[in-house]
Amino acid sequence: MPVNPRRLVVRALARLERTPGAAGQSVLRTMLDGPDARDLDLRDRALVTSCFYGILRWRLRLDYHIGTHARKGVPSDPELANILRLGTFQLLFLDRVPARAAVHTSVRLARQLRGPAVGKFVNGVLRAIDRDRTPPSELSTRYGHPDWMVQRLAERMGDSLEARLEANMAPPPVHLRVHPDSYDQVAGMTKTDQPDVFTVRDSGMDSQAIRGGIQAGHWLPQDKASVAMVDLLDIDRPALRVLELCCGRGVKTTRLLEKRQMHNINGLYIASDISIAKLHEAKRLCQRWLPQQTVHFVAADSTKRLPIAPEIQFDRILIDAPCTGLGVIRRRPEILWRRTPDDIDTLSKLQWNILRQAIQRLAPGGQLVYSVCTLTDEETTGVINRVLSEYDLTLEQQQQYTPENDGSDGFFGAVFTRPA
Ligand SMILES: C[S@@+](CC[C@H](N)C(=O)[O-])C[C@H]1O[C@@H](n2cnc3c(N)ncnc32)[C@H](O)[C@@H]1O
Repeated sequence: MPVNPRRLVVRALARLERTPGAAGQSVLRTMLDGPDARDLDLRDRALVTSCFYGILRWRLRLDYHIGTHARKGVPSDPELANILRLGTFQLLFLDRVPARAAVHTSVRLARQLRGPAVGKFVNGVLRAIDRDRTPPSELSTRYGHPDWMVQRLAERMGDSLEARLEANMAPPPVHLRVHPDSYDQVAGMTKTDQPDVFTVRDSGMDSQAIRGGIQAGHWLPQDKASVAMVDLLDIDRPALRVLELCCGRGVKTTRLLEKRQMHNINGLYIASDISIAKLHEAKRLCQRWLPQQTVHFVAADSTKRLPIAPEIQFDRILIDAPCTGLGVIRRRPEILWRRTPDDIDTLSKLQWNILRQAIQRLAPGGQLVYSVCTLTDEETTGVINRVLSEYDLTLEQQQQYTPENDGSDGFFGAVFTRPA
């Protein structure tokens, strides 16, 4: 019997909640690639994807509607809460699902998983929400953002606040960075204003074709602002020693390697991260993307002295630092309800400690790029000002990309140089 796509959504949500730190994107991918989803057709896969992301994105708003109509508020049973969110999301946000079907499918699921009485309860709550769809007046619940986040943004953004909240809630565009040898594959895609990055908007490409291109090595999903951060680093003269900290799964590494190859640049390239699992992925990706290039991968906590011979200094350093990710809410909506204000403080300290270690390794005349996919002052200008007050470095430029102004993820990058 083919699997019920809505049941799969509830299962994926439960898996995400059980695994602190897991990204929604990878939980969904594992689920859709797994045996349970083998018989799902493209339409049902699209339904699973839009319900899963929609519930993550709109969770606080959905809970407002559920809380208004369920006598005891949002149920503490996570599975039941997610069944209600699933029905509410379809009622309020999915035009293509008729209201009757949205209610009926959730009631059936509740009955199967929790029994007839719970089915009746779900029926009552969803019918009440269907009758009263009035959106909340408060900005935070209307746009599904926690109060503290809206308050912080309001202090800094004034009139443009609502544009940011709206942009954070929109499904993100697909941006693909194309392999230098695959330009003959981009027919139908649209160029963005960032070199080598295309969107699939209006191309008629479906998710299978996009994934096929990824598997064939024609392109990598990477937001144009993320590419812009790497392109801040000048890879412009022979025998450059390059250090990349926080390289993660190596997406930015492959961009730097392309530039090295294009300009015929050699010299030591060390890429490092604290996660051994991510380094394995990075190594595989780089070998597939540009097999001619050599990268040395080093597992290390970059807040401590780096396990690299102390006499080695680097001409170029890229740090793609861990951060609160408030610039990538469109792609990782779980950030909305996972982050707390304390994370900003914790992460800005971590960023500072990583930067301090990196600066020790920057050669005279060398250049360092610091990038984060967030836009809080503490993790951007706060860290930058501290560097300038404690080290003899020059700030060459700062760049900021925002979803509301640039149609990209929110990124901040700063370029420092050390006097020669
Ligand atoms: C923003 S992500 C990097 C993404 C990556 N550059 C890419 O483009 O795919 C931040 C990375 O910092 C790493 N990280 C977190 N704490 C670290 C630490 N103390 N030392 C080194 N790396 C750390 C995480 O494992 C994560 O991969």
